[in-house]
Amino acid sequence: MSDCQPAILQPIPALARYASYTLLPDSDPRAALRRLRGVTDGERTFAGIGQSLVSALGREIPELRAFPEFSGRGIDVPSTPAALLLWLRGEDRGELVNRHRGLDGLLSGAFRCTQVIDAFTYDGRARRDLTGYEDGTENPRGRKAVATAVSRRKGIAGSSFLAIQQWEHDLHRFEAMPRREQDHCFGRRRSDNEELDHAPASAHVKRTAQESFDPEAFVLRRSMPWAEGERCGLVFTAFGASFDAFEALLRRMVGEEDGITDALFRFTRPLSGAYFWCPPLKGGKLDLSALGL
Ligand code: HEM
Repeated sequence: MSDCQPAILQPIPALARYASYTLLPDSDPRAALRRLRGVTDGERTFAGIGQSLVSALGREIPELRAFPEFSGRGIDVPSTPAALLLWLRGEDRGELVNRHRGLDGLLSGAFRCTQVIDAFTYDGRARRDLTGYEDGTENPRGRKAVATAVSRRKGIAGSSFLAIQQWEHDLHRFEAMPRREQDHCFGRRRSDNEELDHAPASAHVKRTAQESFDPEAFVLRRSMPWAEGERCGLVFTAFGASFDAFEALLRRMVGEEDGITDALFRFTRPLSGAYFWCPPLKGGKLDLSALGL
């Protein structure tokens, strides 16, 4: 039986590197993918495959599609697809840089790295966003986490579907708000992480209350803060057995249902958005049989 890549069900690591790749024109990715299969354990080195790569191989993966663009009032949610994503997880930045260089070499005949995001954990066990709010509290756990994030569909059992967006925060703008207003953006109190009963309808946890959707819209979030020079934000990272729950959540965040936009947009914006199929593991190796490999 196939298992999912273990990183999906694990807490976020101290450090990570998200590396996106494009497929080089007129190249055959098969040999590079076979090499990648040999070194991807799904835990320290995690791989996601984009729609363009699947179609370059003449295949189809059920549920996989391109990331949709969304627009709300004054809000653009971009779609920036990639052929391949590596999520390199570890504790030592030097080791991550060198591991990434090694993988780049291994993929170089067919792929080119187009973007690197260095990410980290903020405040150890609390796993905070850079605003200081705890992120991941309402994540499903145990068997529910597995049911939420891992597909049992015949032919791709053990697969997961990853939605990823790089958000850039304007923390000066956020910090200029009084604390009560900040708490109302999230719908939780930063001081003790308690959910606020009387938060406005625009509060993030009101917009995204997973049980309030029909069907319920649970996702398994493994987001990590990022920073580069003066810029910073969150790499929103969510796994599902399909993309349906993520899309329902995002539609409500941009106000498609009732015209109310998520208060997060007052201080943060998505710069990117991409979907990936995360193949299962078989015998501890990436199982690419659905791609004919
Ligand atoms: C910069 C972007 C974002 C930040 C800083 C952020 C932060 C947070 C925080 C602090 C919480 C409350 C604690 C928790 O339950 O984790 C939360 C909850 C949640 N967020 Fe986000 N989030 C962001 C984007 C998104 C996006 C794009 C989605 C989905 C499309 C999303 C889905 C959720 C869900 C499902 C919950 C739990 C709601 C519930 O059932 O109570 N978030 N987020």
